[in-house]
Amino acid sequence: VTPKALLNNPVSLVSNEMNTLAKNIVTLIGSGHPLLNRISGYYFEAEGKKVRPMLVLLLSRALSQIPLEERDRIKIDYTDVPEDPVYSKVQHSRLFENVPASISPLHILHGIKPLNPLTKGPEPLPQEFDRARGILPKQRRLAEIVEMIHTASLLHDDVIDHSDTRRGRPSGNIAFTNKMAVLAGDFMLGRATVAISRLRNPEVVELVSNSIANLVEGEFMQLKNTAIDADHTTFNNGTQHIPPPPTKFELTEHEYRVPTSSTTNGTQLSHDQLVDMAFDYYLHKTYLKTAALISKSCRAAAVLSGVRDPIIEECYEFGKNLGICFQLVDDMLDFTISAKDLGKPAGADLELGIATAPVLFAWREDPSLGPLIKRNFSNPGDVEAAALAVKKYDGVGKTNELAKDYCNKALQNLRNGLPNSDARSALEFLTNSVLTRRK
Ligand code: FPP
Ligand code: MG
Ligand code: MG
Repeated sequence: VTPKALLNNPVSLVSNEMNTLAKNIVTLIGSGHPLLNRISGYYFEAEGKKVRPMLVLLLSRALSQIPLEERDRIKIDYTDVPEDPVYSKVQHSRLFENVPASISPLHILHGIKPLNPLTKGPEPLPQEFDRARGILPKQRRLAEIVEMIHTASLLHDDVIDHSDTRRGRPSGNIAFTNKMAVLAGDFMLGRATVAISRLRNPEVVELVSNSIANLVEGEFMQLKNTAIDADHTTFNNGTQHIPPPPTKFELTEHEYRVPTSSTTNGTQLSHDQLVDMAFDYYLHKTYLKTAALISKSCRAAAVLSGVRDPIIEECYEFGKNLGICFQLVDDMLDFTISAKDLGKPAGADLELGIATAPVLFAWREDPSLGPLIKRNFSNPGDVEAAALAVKKYDGVGKTNELAKDYCNKALQNLRNGLPNSDARSALEFLTNSVLTRRK
């Protein structure tokens, strides 16, 4: 393959890994129930973009180009992924059949592999250490886990959004009912959790687990536009009082920080200040809902490769900037691309009452949009009026510019953190194509 061909096709660099990815995921989500298997596998049958695992694999490959002398040798996690627990491979109905006599039912139930008392922990043998020069086994598993978490969140998202299509087919909730789609998402998340814990790397376990919580936090923030609803003292029927919003978000390390909203206490905010706050809220939501999974899996890939802290930070920032860019483009496409081309409902955000970047840009120019946003476009004609304002004030073009800024920051992170290599070029290509994607 010529370098040029590689550059134009980042997938080809990790195509072997991408092929085993699909196969391994099928094993990881196998259950004893045929219908559950069918639903869990449903979104994997249609070709998704698989951006997340591709990023993890390409980044892992790019990190492997960093000389071993520049990494913490102790921290390079080159060991194999432990075998899956026996019980997850055995059909419920035949739980105790065909199991080697050396394994007791207790081992099956607890997923414990019989230990050889003579074997100590893994020793860094030279030939194993050689592996650190390529994509590590645990980085491959990480790519699979990330795709599983993402797919689980899509099953739930389509229930929440009342979607009827995904990847050009009926969505899970339509094909199988809400209840089964939710349960399949939960199941997949459960299996992803098993796989995460079997990475046997506490820092990575913490990172990836956190990103699951972040998905839910982001989705929750989206339910209510509380940034412009800052005095929301009423609840449901307007009779029940709830405490005012916190003056600042309680965030864990490495999170996108939102400025405090303490200025709301008694002070009248100007229109621009209000819009600024809404943008902060929106970007923070976007980080949690979309960028957290990407950025934390990039960080996890870097942790596994044993690189030093400044490189880990660049990888994390890369994922964060790319993730925000990705969602900005998603929110833009919701206004510009037909449902047929998207393979999922278009124009859905306004219908769902969600104000995304294109609307916020229009609101900055036209303050009269505020009440519409506040009531989640629930009055007749609100959706149409907002769509018209987005057109009039070029909300889409402005969102595109913002997405470009994040794309450029992500490219800079790549150049700061990684040596020049085919994988880094492929990552740059992938980053640019997030911006120009039409799907
Ligand atoms: C797609 O957004 C949805 C997400 C990025 C995250 C959804 C997260 C949840 C539903 C929380 C539950 C999480 C887990 C892990 C089970 P979108 O609706 O804007 O995009 P779409 O147009 O593709 O539907
Ligand atoms: Mg959706
Ligand atoms: Mg959604």
